[in-house]
Amino acid sequence: MKKKPFKYPRVEKENIAKNTAVKAFAANFARRVVTAEAVYEVAGTDHTKAHDEFQKNGYTILTHRECPSLLASGQMLLWPIDEASPKFSIDQRRRRISHITAKATKSELGQFLTPYTTACFMASLFESGNGNVCSLLDPGSGIGSLSDAFLKEKCLSFYKVHVTACEIDSKLIDELKETLQDIESDIVHGDFIELAVNWLQFEPKRRFTHAILNPPYKKIRSSSCTRKLLRHVGIETVNFYSAFVALSLKLLEHGGQLVAIIPRSFCNGPYYKPFRQMILKESVITHIHLFESRRDAFKEEGVLQENVIIKLVKGGTQGDVTISVSTSDSFADYRQEDRLFSDILKPMDTEVWLAESPTHLIHFNGSRFLGPYEG
Ligand SMILES: C[S@@+](CC[C@H](N)C(=O)[O-])C[C@H]1O[C@@H](n2cnc3c(N)ncnc32)[C@H](O)[C@@H]1O
Repeated sequence: MKKKPFKYPRVEKENIAKNTAVKAFAANFARRVVTAEAVYEVAGTDHTKAHDEFQKNGYTILTHRECPSLLASGQMLLWPIDEASPKFSIDQRRRRISHITAKATKSELGQFLTPYTTACFMASLFESGNGNVCSLLDPGSGIGSLSDAFLKEKCLSFYKVHVTACEIDSKLIDELKETLQDIESDIVHGDFIELAVNWLQFEPKRRFTHAILNPPYKKIRSSSCTRKLLRHVGIETVNFYSAFVALSLKLLEHGGQLVAIIPRSFCNGPYYKPFRQMILKESVITHIHLFESRRDAFKEEGVLQENVIIKLVKGGTQGDVTISVSTSDSFADYRQEDRLFSDILKPMDTEVWLAESPTHLIHFNGSRFLGPYEG
């Protein structure tokens, strides 16, 4: 069927722009497709700055990342902020946010948002809800991609889901609200580590049946307040990602399930030993997913990180572990196999947990399960 051409609505709103050049430009060109050069000419050549300039004056810049069916690379569309914008999927919103977020913020807050295919895969790892009530924790929730995927996962079938989403960056809170607008939810704006330590000590009712997370990755200095705070609840760890997983695990009810995408660095070495011991004490491991190349999990962000997706169930008895692998986040060549837990954890030797040699994670049927990672 032939696609209808896009119609530009008439510009009828009072132009609220304050900057004269931007104001004049927006009055003429809002809601029209314009070239990126034309926008940069009036508001500076840096995309983030141009975006901020128009934002201050009442307009959002949309690019082909948000409107792939509408705009080609190098084209832009100005849209009044106070009007309902064209409906974007959560992944389009993720790309836009990621595009306009400064590199410094990304590394300061570990703000690498999960692509939707990966979020959906993570959601698919939970067991069916069988009509029960679910209390979902999404710590470091970004714009809520993981909660959204969880809520849309058809196999889960809960009677009711309540989401607690916690995000430190005020710039993402409106997006998060938009994602969770039709859901019973608590959107908590703050530091998850501080909040969780408080909940664990003083709010025994704030516990969860499920947790889904892509936590920030950042070192915790040994003398920092964060490190001291974590010790109040018996957590000794060196990175935000392991702290987020440890806290979430502690906040789960018995039998609660946790799925997280995290760097592989916790699998060996003395620094993560207390974290590994904590996982083994508090939970059982039921699934580990590996990406064959470290470029793949967050390739749009250019993140070179060896990530794994891990599923833990609080309490219970350790059985076999499903090991799965895919080359990329399309999961097109997904394959899985159940392995004895003893293949993964060498008894009495948690130093080499999950790792039989530094470059190979697990051996599968006697041959190499994963080849060496390319650099
Ligand atoms: C790796 S991103 C993942 C975001 C989201 N979960 C997703 O999967 O798209 C980590 C998120 O945690 C947030 N964050 C960083 N430090 C935090 C903290 N101490 N408390 C709460 N959120 C934090 C960042 O702003 C970022 O949105």
